[in-house]
Amino acid sequence: MKALVLSGGAGTRLRPLSHSTPKQLVPVAGRPVLFHALAELRSLGVREVGVIISEGTHGQQIRMAVGDGSQFGLEVTYLPQDAPRGLAHCVIIAREFLADDDFVMYLGDNIFAGGLAEPLQAFRADQPAAQLVVTKVGDPSAYGVVEVASDGHVTGLQEKPKEPRSDLAVTGAYFFTPAIHEAVRAIEPSARGELEITDAIQWLVTGGQDVRARQFAGYWADTGTLESVLTCNRVLLDDLTGDVRGSVDEASELSGPVVVEEGARVVRSRITGPVIIGAGTVVEDSRVGRFTSIGNGCRLHDAGVEDSILLDQASVHGVGTLHGSIIGKAGDVRRREDGSATHRLLVGDDSRIDVPA
Ligand code: G1P
Repeated sequence: MKALVLSGGAGTRLRPLSHSTPKQLVPVAGRPVLFHALAELRSLGVREVGVIISEGTHGQQIRMAVGDGSQFGLEVTYLPQDAPRGLAHCVIIAREFLADDDFVMYLGDNIFAGGLAEPLQAFRADQPAAQLVVTKVGDPSAYGVVEVASDGHVTGLQEKPKEPRSDLAVTGAYFFTPAIHEAVRAIEPSARGELEITDAIQWLVTGGQDVRARQFAGYWADTGTLESVLTCNRVLLDDLTGDVRGSVDEASELSGPVVVEEGARVVRSRITGPVIIGAGTVVEDSRVGRFTSIGNGCRLHDAGVEDSILLDQASVHGVGTLHGSIIGKAGDVRRREDGSATHRLLVGDDSRIDVPA
């Protein structure tokens, strides 16, 4: 079985991070979201992966980060898409790469905590034309929605309906046989101008083909917003195993699972896990609280940070109250040294700052 990983898309809801970083490379629990996806595909036994990327700099960054895939034990083929023309359009682009193999289509900004072994096993056992992975959500109108009979057969689909007919959302993992290739060519663009994979799957259902759905038992997230990135970070860090490869001095105190990567230094600080401290990062005279992921080459001095994500080279000096925060690459948060009690902000485009009342 092959995999088709979708890593195009603009990620507008992840601004400001997505101005410079493709949404699939935003780190969650110490690794880009896409790396979690690729590791999961490898653990399912997949080797050949087609990665759909956009043609601009975001696509280039994904190529640079993932390379030939060997770091994940995968063989990666890049498939550039000229514009976001829909998930079904991605299947059309990948026709030659996929040949007549079964494949799992995986949205590169999705996280499936606990993995996809169970739905894969069901796909192999039942041998339907297509199998969706679905989950109950509170706001089905934001997703593809699926109606499922009690025996697991899909009877209908709607893409982001105003009046959803069920509370089961289509997640970003789809198991397909080559039957999908005829379907993606048979449909027309939707109102938003995209070739929707839900329409292609509906085409299979209408044609009497066997389409099934498996309800996902674990935590699923589409990391499309900063809030969901933080939630995902918490969920994944909850399973963290501590591992100290950098240095921790005697005046520091570590509790709970803490990863201190190679070359990182913890000095006179208190770290309460789950926490990841990236390679080459220095944490001095600081408190780092639960559910914090700190990237590589960061500097914390006289800082207090919890439930937060710091991207590479970020720094915090003299600010002890960071909570639920995301600090972008080389972002710098510091106490004023000139005695003024006002906030002085140099904030990038589309950023957001919450200050105490
Ligand atoms: C896409 C699909 C939708 C699915 C969602 C899952 O939506 O069109 O059916 O529920 O992914 O993340 P998009 O994120 O492209 O709006």
